[in-house]
Amino acid sequence: MMQNPYLPYPVDVRKVTLENEAKDIKTFELVFQEDGGKERFAYRCGQFAELSVLGVGECPIGIASSPMDTDSVQFTVKKVGVVTTALHELEEGASIGLRGPYGNGFPMDELEGSNIVIVAGGFAFTTLRSLTNYILHPDNRDRFGELTVVYGARTPGELIYKYDLEAWARREDIQLHVTVDTEHEGWDGLVGFVPTVLGNVAPSPENAFAVVCGPPVMIRFSLPVLAQQGFQASRILNSLEMRMKCGVGKCGRCNIGEKYVCKNGPVFTLEELQGLPQEY
Ligand SMILES: Cc1cc2nc3c(=O)[nH]c(=O)nc-3n(C[C@H](O)[C@H](O)[C@H](O)COP(=O)(O)OP(=O)(O)OC[C@H]3O[C@@H](n4cnc5c(N)ncnc54)[C@H](O)[C@@H]3O)c2cc1C
Ligand code: FES
Repeated sequence: MMQNPYLPYPVDVRKVTLENEAKDIKTFELVFQEDGGKERFAYRCGQFAELSVLGVGECPIGIASSPMDTDSVQFTVKKVGVVTTALHELEEGASIGLRGPYGNGFPMDELEGSNIVIVAGGFAFTTLRSLTNYILHPDNRDRFGELTVVYGARTPGELIYKYDLEAWARREDIQLHVTVDTEHEGWDGLVGFVPTVLGNVAPSPENAFAVVCGPPVMIRFSLPVLAQQGFQASRILNSLEMRMKCGVGKCGRCNIGEKYVCKNGPVFTLEELQGLPQEY
């Protein structure tokens, strides 16, 4: 029988990782309390879930782990309000609720066989980190072409997943370009905004998809760079973070025109977004 989409799975917080210098971004590794929970929560890269703290509420968070991770699911949460603060106060071993997975996720069948250019800024890297780790998994790497990642944050202290960045930098099957906005003592990597670095890297649009996620200003300036490089709007994917409530297309909180971001998205091609009212 199909699981009631409103019913959360009980999960335990196995590990909490502090991601940034400002201490307001944490990654939560969750494990299912019930046997078979992980198998029933089968997800694709780019999907999201609702995390709930008893007596406080719930909020949508993108899935940061790769579907290839066998026994746990990870979420990276920035502390901004009521529920995210309650999540940040949790200790390892605490129990919370997990509802989902929701949304369309990235079109993995279409991405297979193509070169992939990932463009990410700030802490919105989460679902793109999932995609990167999915592509890099030994069982999957041959099914994709070249992998280019351009990732930036304002300062070195704001870069998240430093442990992944270090591991990826040691590999030869990924072109990794990590940048920070301005010079910082001790930083000998790239300096400059993501759209500028993307312009310098100049990835080929030949048989390629670009997947973009970040703050609105980064997206606004990165899209023309990709267009200039020859990427078609149908091959530029974007993940939206509209405010949501039900997550399953029932409450009408997240619609843009006739599309529901929770159900039809959160991943849309630029071509699809160009056909929607500019409400996102
Ligand atoms: C598909 C999707 C994926 C997301 N993925 C992540 C993620 O990986 N990590 C993460 O930290 N956050 C993510 N978010 C945003 C996250 O859902 C909100 O930050 C969260 O709902 C805030 O809840 P709160 O109770 O802590 O804040 P509230 O107390 O409800 O509000 C605090 C402040 O945050 C603003 N806010 C609340 N929700 C949103 C929202 N959805 N978008 C923009 N502003 C909002 C409010 O206007 C207010 O200023 C995602 C949202 C969506 C829709
Ligand atoms: S969140 Fe309820 S319809 Fe999308």
